[in-house]
Formats: sequence, structure tokens, C-alpha cells
Amino acid sequence: MRALIPGLAALTWLAACGTQEEVPVAQGPTRADSVQAADQMFDPSAFDTIQWATDSEAIERGNLVFRISCSKCHGESGRGNGNFVLKADTLRPPSFLAAEWRFADDPIGLRRQIFTGNVAGMPYWGLVGLKYRDIDAVALYITRFLRTNYSDNAG
Ligand code: HEC
Repeated sequence: MRALIPGLAALTWLAACGTQEEVPVAQGPTRADSVQAADQMFDPSAFDTIQWATDSEAIERGNLVFRISCSKCHGESGRGNGNFVLKADTLRPPSFLAAEWRFADDPIGLRRQIFTGNVAGMPYWGLVGLKYRDIDAVALYITRFLRTNYSDNAG
């Protein structure tokens, strides 16, 4: 072993002298890669078998998920004013409360967006392990609780 170490050092030195080309450094997945991976994993049929004993059971669970995982960016009532700072920018996600909100009548699109995230700062929740059941709960919380109890103008 002892004899090997100086030998190895010499070899490394030689290798360093001999190569002019830059050695490629392995890169981690980019945000776009992760969004794409989550999109490939997403299975809309997983929601078909989710059942809630009552609406309020779903809303309560969704409230918990929202408070812990979403409100820091989306704001307590979903207006997009959570003020979370990412890379020195305060994120301003769109409000969930707008009358013409694009996911208002698109339950699977909403769940897909939560699962997949996007490159503009929305995390890919499916990829980091948020369960379909909790995605369902938080989606119901947004559409059946936040959108019915708050509006962009008041409350
Ligand atoms: C780190 C901050 C952050 C967290 C945490 C976060 N989001 Fe987002 N989310 C964003 C941003 C930023 C956008 C807007 C991205 C864009 O401009 O397309 C967004 C967009 C969305 C959209 C699409 C809105 C639209 O009108 O297009 C939905 C739905 C959404 N988030 C749901 C959630 C849910 C549910 C959670 C919690 C499980 C969550 N988000 C947690 C930052 C966050």
C-alpha cells in the first residue's frame, strides 16, 4: 500500500499534464428534468379510487396540507401572496380565487399541476412524495373551500 501511494500521485500528475481538454462534471437533474419526470409518473386514474367519508374530512385534510406545504407561497387564502423568497425573488403565483381561474373546471388539470409543478417555481410535489390522496385533498380544499369562501376582492 505504501509503495502504491507515491505511484498513484505520479500517475495523477502525469494525467493532469497530459490532458488539455476539460473533464465534464456530472450535473444533477435540472428543474425542467424533474418536472418532466413527474409528468411521466403522473397517473390520472389514481384519483378514481380515492374516497372520502365526508366532504369535511377531505377539506380538513386539505387544509392541513395547504397550511404546511402551499401557503408560504400561495398565501393563506390562495391569493398568491405568501411572499416566499426563492433565489432572492419574492414569488407571486397567480391567485386561485379569480372567477375565470384556468383550473376552476379542470379537476385533473389541477391535480396534474400540483403533482408535476413547473419551471417557474412551483414544486413537483408528486416527485417528492406527496401522496395522491393528499393531492386530492388539497385540490378539493382549493376548489370547494378557498374558492367558495374567499374572493380576490374581499375577505
Ligand atoms: C416554493 C413556492 C411554492 C409552493 C410551496 C407551492 N407552490 Fe404552487 N406555485 C408556485 C408558483 C411560483 C406558481 C406559479 C408558477 C407560474 O408562474 O407558472 C405556482 C403555481 C401553482 C398552481 C397553478 C396556478 C395557476 O393559476 O396557474 C397550482 C394549482 C399550485 N401552484 C398549487 C400548489 C399547491 C396545492 C401547493 C401545495 C401542495 C403549492 N402550489 C405549493 C409556487 C409554490
